Amino acid sequence: MKIVVIGGSGLIGSKVVENLRARGHEVVAASPASGVDTMTGKGLKEALQDARVVVDVANSPSFEDQAVLAFFETSGRNLFAAEKAAGVAHHVALSVVGTDRLAQSGYFRAKIAQEKLIRESGVPYTIVQSTQFFEFLGGIAKACANESTVHLSDAYIQPIASGDVASAVADRAVEAPVNDVVEIAGPEKSRLSDLMQRYFKATGDARTVIADASALYFGALLAADTLLPGAQAHLGTVNFDAWFQQSQSQTQAPH
Ligand SMILES: NC(=O)c1ccc[n+]([C@@H]2O[C@H](COP(=O)([O-])OP(=O)(O)OC[C@H]3O[C@@H](n4cnc5c(N)ncnc54)[C@H](OP(=O)(O)O)[C@@H]3O)[C@@H](O)[C@H]2O)c1
Repeated sequence: MKIVVIGGSGLIGSKVVENLRARGHEVVAASPASGVDTMTGKGLKEALQDARVVVDVANSPSFEDQAVLAFFETSGRNLFAAEKAAGVAHHVALSVVGTDRLAQSGYFRAKIAQEKLIRESGVPYTIVQSTQFFEFLGGIAKACANESTVHLSDAYIQPIASGDVASAVADRAVEAPVNDVVEIAGPEKSRLSDLMQRYFKATGDARTVIADASALYFGALLAADTLLPGAQAHLGTVNFDAWFQQSQSQTQAPH
């Protein structure tokens, strides 16, 4: 079956492409790097020809409020016009657990808009909402002030490894559309502030984390369970220690 992965060069996209190719599917990794741009529509018609499934794991190059909203709205409109013209039978998209509860954040308002376009597109769909990737801890660390102490929310987080995300997304791509949201998460929950302190310690970062219930997460105030999935979520197997060990051995592997 022909499957097009929009954002196929990204962290999750490259793993989804590899996973689906290993199952014997014809997979196109589509992104600006390979001449396919969902913002302008360039290359979409050609890439989608004879495609049965489109997996959208693209992300906005800018997280500035207006830029990210424009990215998901314009990309969504261009993508669905091309999918309808090509007769695509299933659209699988990656979103974030708790998106509906995070409208205070510009990034999440854009994800809400992306999900709305999917629901209203008329193309059968599956929205996979994932918790934060372990790989994203580095991004959160960078977003913190570069001072000796950083304030982070003490809300719970249940992060998942990118490999577990990619295999769950690939599973959905070869199954029938559910026309609904399915949730995926990691195997362990911890407080964001505690996990970041653990990450700092593991990476030799001398900063100290202060647990602060009023600290915003990408512009949004978190309740204890805002970022947690529901009871039906499919759980990955890789926890923080296993992920950290894996990521260290990959960094140290000879090239
Ligand atoms: N970070 C988290 O913890 C988290 C949690 C849950 C869900 N998610 C969601 O997961 C998704 C994927 O995230 P990621 O971290 O894997 O992304 P990523 O590594 O930043 O990759 C982004 C991808 O989007 C592509 N892209 C950028 N502009 C494009 C355009 N105009 N047209 C087509 N493709 C374009 C990039 O292509 P080029 O390489 O060619 O530029 C790249 O392949 C996002 O939708 C995000 O909301 C993230």
